[in-house]
Amino acid sequence: MWKKFSSSPGGSSKFFSQEKISPASVNSAKEVQGCDFPMTKTDMSRMKIIRATNQLYLNLDILDCLAYGKLFLMITEKKESSKKTVIKLEHVNKSFYQDEIVFPILNDISFEIPEKKLITLMGPSGSGKSTLLNILSAIESADSGKVEVFGNQLSQSTEEELTIYRRKTIGIVFQFFHLFPYLSAIDNVALPLYLSGISKSIATAKAKEALSLVDLGHRKEFTPKEMSGGEKQRVSIARAIVHQPKLIFADEPTGNLDSNSSEMIMKLFASCVKDLGISVFLVTHNEQIGLSGDINLHMLDGKIKTK
Ligand SMILES: Nc1ncnc2c1ncn2[C@@H]1O[C@H](COP(=O)(O)OP(=O)(O)OP(=O)(O)O)[C@@H](O)[C@H]1O
Ligand SMILES: [Mg+2]
Repeated sequence: MWKKFSSSPGGSSKFFSQEKISPASVNSAKEVQGCDFPMTKTDMSRMKIIRATNQLYLNLDILDCLAYGKLFLMITEKKESSKKTVIKLEHVNKSFYQDEIVFPILNDISFEIPEKKLITLMGPSGSGKSTLLNILSAIESADSGKVEVFGNQLSQSTEEELTIYRRKTIGIVFQFFHLFPYLSAIDNVALPLYLSGISKSIATAKAKEALSLVDLGHRKEFTPKEMSGGEKQRVSIARAIVHQPKLIFADEPTGNLDSNSSEMIMKLFASCVKDLGISVFLVTHNEQIGLSGDINLHMLDGKIKTK
């Protein structure tokens, strides 16, 4: 049995496996590791690396061990990945039409974003920020140009590929939370996992873990109407990270919150980037937030400028 270890680097239980866990892997995890927490093949390889590296890790909690494994991978991947591109747009155009009138919104937009960054996007109301985010989230499509996210060519993908992209690669956070009012926090967070075919027990365990990460472990049975705006937004961040996406898109995530809650949400996003290696791309009208993070973009007259 794995024992809890109070002072583990990386904190306890901060990382999840990216893969879908099959019943077979649970059995082989038991055999290989003597552990009854479900593990994927990657997790088991990490465990083997950890075991081989140092016997010290043997008494750690399983999730602490995964954190070590993740740290190990992050260190080894760091050199290779320092210049990886997350988002690449080339000559993207988008217009809306009403009757016969054309309203050009995005005008020949090209930019590239490296991975593991907090990106902010500001711009006047109606300038096309949400439209751009919707295109990057594969909710809408561009009229022309190339949109590539983590190597996925969104402009050339099939509907099925886009569904997988939305379910696995990205997480989305909205200004008005979009939580199901009659579901508890834990069910709201676990729902995308149920929809991906993950079993209820594993989905619930991952949802619980995600809620702990946003410091809402004690509110897991509460429904949205029993929570403050800041708490609801933290639940929606937990829902956005529960499947361990590579990238989070957030459209005015603090637009409905007071300054303290906004600060907490921004700290969570910063921690997503720093601790979990998830890139965050957020739209805001708040000048202070718009100037925070790693890359500050500004949209005006259908064009993007970097500040
Ligand atoms: N589905 C649509 N059909 C027609 N016009 C649309 C559609 N979606 C957006 N627009 C128009 O495109 C323009 C850009 O909208 P968008 O929502 O991207 O702006 P925004 O920068 O996010 O604004 P805000 O800061 O107010 O949220 C607006 O003029 C809007 O009316
Ligand atoms: Mg908008």
